[in-house]
Amino acid sequence: MTDRQRAYPSPRLLSSADKLDSFKCQSVMQTDWLRNIARRAHSTNTARVYVVTEPDSPIVVGYYAWCMASISNAEAPKRMLSGAGRYPRHPVALLARLGVDIRHQNRKIGMSLLQDVVRRAAEISGQIGCLGLLVHAETEEAAKFYTRHIADFKQAPTNSTHLVLMLRHARKALQNQPQDG
Ligand SMILES: CC(C)(COP(=O)(O)OP(=O)(O)OC[C@H]1O[C@@H](n2cnc3c(N)ncnc32)[C@H](O)[C@@H]1OP(=O)(O)O)[C@@H](O)C(=O)NCCC(=O)NCCS
Repeated sequence: MTDRQRAYPSPRLLSSADKLDSFKCQSVMQTDWLRNIARRAHSTNTARVYVVTEPDSPIVVGYYAWCMASISNAEAPKRMLSGAGRYPRHPVALLARLGVDIRHQNRKIGMSLLQDVVRRAAEISGQIGCLGLLVHAETEEAAKFYTRHIADFKQAPTNSTHLVLMLRHARKALQNQPQDG
């Protein structure tokens, strides 16, 4: 059986047994972050890191990192602020990093990571105030990955690489996409 035919496991929290050293994606920034920063960020809880490994192996082939954040009035799409109160900043979850190893690209790992974080954002919004999911894409090209998979991602008015998915749209996206794994 080839790698391509074997199913990848669903995204899960980074563990101490996971191997990060061989990870290499198309972005140097996303690669270096996983190799050098992810463990510290995860253990200090400044970000939570979720990974996909090779089947039956601790070798990480895809990941994302996210944390709590806030969005300013200027950065938020107008519709998001309807009824949100007159505060200078509003609560969101921030998808800060996402990458898939170049040797495992185009096998829907990126999509499964994106679906996973959208599902988790929808879940936690039932427990803590959260208006949506903010994505800091590294480049305009990278931003297209998100809008291609979930059309309801809107550009922040202040920055074309910052994308916002309102929570009600996140729930809709989950209904429209099959659960991974
Ligand atoms: C972008 C990235 C995460 C995609 O991962 P992947 O596992 O190869 O993606 P998937 O297999 O789930 O999805 C592939 C689909 O997305 C499309 N896609 C991939 N990168 C894209 C991009 N930059 N823009 C638009 N579409 C893109 C592919 O054409 C493919 O389309 P299809 O399903 O219609 O055939 C990966 O290429 C990567 O790590 N890139 C470098 C880091 C990066 O850009 N991170 C994201 C923003 S910070």
